[in-house]
Amino acid sequence: MIKGIRQPIITVCGHVDHGKTSILDRIRGTNVAEKEAGGITQKISFTMMPKETIEERAGDVMKKFNIPLEIPGFLFIDTPGHAAFTNLRKRGGSLADLAVLVVDINEGIKPQTAEVLQILKSNKTPFIIALNKVDNISGWQSKSKLAYENIEKQPLNIKQIFEEKLYTFIGALNSYKFDAELYTKISDFTKNIVIVPCSARTGEGISEIIAMLVALSQKFLKERISVKEQGKGVILEVKKDKSINYAEAILYDGTLKLNDEIAIASFDGIIKTKIRSMSEALPLSKGFRPAEEVKAAAGIRIQTTAKEEILPGMPFQIIQGNEKEIEKEFKKELKQEISTSDSGIIIKAESLGSLEALLFLLKQKQIKVVYAGIGSITKKDIYSASANADADKVILGFNVNVEEDAETKDVKIFANDVVYKLIEDFEKYREEKQKETEREKLEELPSLVKILILPYVFRNSNPAIFGIRVEGGVLRQNIELINKGDEKIARVKAMQHEKANIKEAGKGKEIAVSLPGVNFERQLEKGQFLYSNLSEFAFRKFKDNKELLSQDEIKVLQEIAEIKRRKNPTWGI
Ligand code: GTP
Ligand code: MG
Repeated sequence: MIKGIRQPIITVCGHVDHGKTSILDRIRGTNVAEKEAGGITQKISFTMMPKETIEERAGDVMKKFNIPLEIPGFLFIDTPGHAAFTNLRKRGGSLADLAVLVVDINEGIKPQTAEVLQILKSNKTPFIIALNKVDNISGWQSKSKLAYENIEKQPLNIKQIFEEKLYTFIGALNSYKFDAELYTKISDFTKNIVIVPCSARTGEGISEIIAMLVALSQKFLKERISVKEQGKGVILEVKKDKSINYAEAILYDGTLKLNDEIAIASFDGIIKTKIRSMSEALPLSKGFRPAEEVKAAAGIRIQTTAKEEILPGMPFQIIQGNEKEIEKEFKKELKQEISTSDSGIIIKAESLGSLEALLFLLKQKQIKVVYAGIGSITKKDIYSASANADADKVILGFNVNVEEDAETKDVKIFANDVVYKLIEDFEKYREEKQKETEREKLEELPSLVKILILPYVFRNSNPAIFGIRVEGGVLRQNIELINKGDEKIARVKAMQHEKANIKEAGKGKEIAVSLPGVNFERQLEKGQFLYSNLSEFAFRKFKDNKELLSQDEIKVLQEIAEIKRRKNPTWGI
């Protein structure tokens, strides 16, 4: 049964500092951005915007474009850019009905913008783009609060600069397979993504953003935002105050009353609990007021009677004699969202949504995850990681703490609150690690070496002992040496440097070597070069891993190949 339509839930997302909070401030008529520590949004927050405020802010534009106002308002969610797009989930998809992707017109698509685009696409969340900070275009004049009018009022050369930036951006979006256009040029809103140029500083374009959100919600979201019976919501944040757990949440469907029994999803099934106390967010971020009954959509604070740990990002639902069903559905949903592999690394994130976003991004890079959990990186996680195969002794923490005593040597921990940096650091590490293992494999092969016989012969035979200089590569004991004619000379028996026995000598080293079964006078002469005798197999192995060799080693490899090919022209080709 449909009980009217609720406020669409709209997330504002985008790269750090592109102006998400400032745009929301303009929309709401608040000044949150100024009050934030360091001007950075630290956590998700929500704001109700009632119908009257929409009317007030965007009534004129809506009249101009013949957009009626049918929705009861908006519920906006501000997300921190530094934590990427905090991916809020509800059952069956994204919690956001619509998104505003904020992009600084002078910066274009940045790493977090790209991430948001990927996630919006995978969640199929419709969105509009607020192309912000137009006032930063040098020479820009702000003569009208309406972006589409103001663009026309710019001097010709400034308008040209604006259009260049706009179309470069549209082109860049094309490469992400999004077809976007200035909103005034769109005739079919199912085909193009709306771009509204704007400035949170001057206020231009803001009312057009609101009008577009109204129009799109009413045209495309009516079914989605129709209110059904059962109260459903998502936990945003959990706060603990002594023995009391209280949570901030969004109710996105139905009604929730005091003393209602709800089921909250958890990794071990469901948490069954009662609403002990509740308050509802007042419009326009003006705090909370106690409430006995709340209707969707609403931002709420609830206290429950739960003893178990409630995790941020988890869905909840009122129980109406259907506990088992709910449990089954939650389980199924969680399994789909957090599907892991039999092997791989461990990941932790601050909420279910961000965990899922991280998993999604890792999957795209074919990085396997064996365990995904919510909360700080604990000793237990480290023990689990330590039991993993070598390459997987890794924990990635997205916006979570590392518990202090958690440091150990064989597990590598990466923690970052910017998801693309987290993944980048890990990939770099993995690449280096791979090089290292390959290098180790090469080290099992005979070494590549070229030596020069020096004019110091200490003993002619049994064994022959004389001075050499390593010209390239590394000389090791037991290496078999050949001359330029590919004749085997002997294996190196002992090596001495300044009277001490050594096992290996690198480039430039002058040392004495002893070769059994060699008669120096008959077989060798000073100034002659000797090389390590490589099998064709070893040669290929070196050749295939050229990037692991130094310039010198590559030269030695080439010289050995030339020697071999004189006798056998197809050698190593
Ligand atoms: P995070 O929450 O940290 O990701 O940042 P944000 O995207 O919310 O950006 P915020 O609104 O905090 O703005 C970042 C900076 O850009 C602030 O110094 C704003 O004053 C400035 N800014 C935002 N919008 C505009 C704009 O339209 N024009 C100009 N010139 N500056 C702007
Ligand atoms: Mg912000």
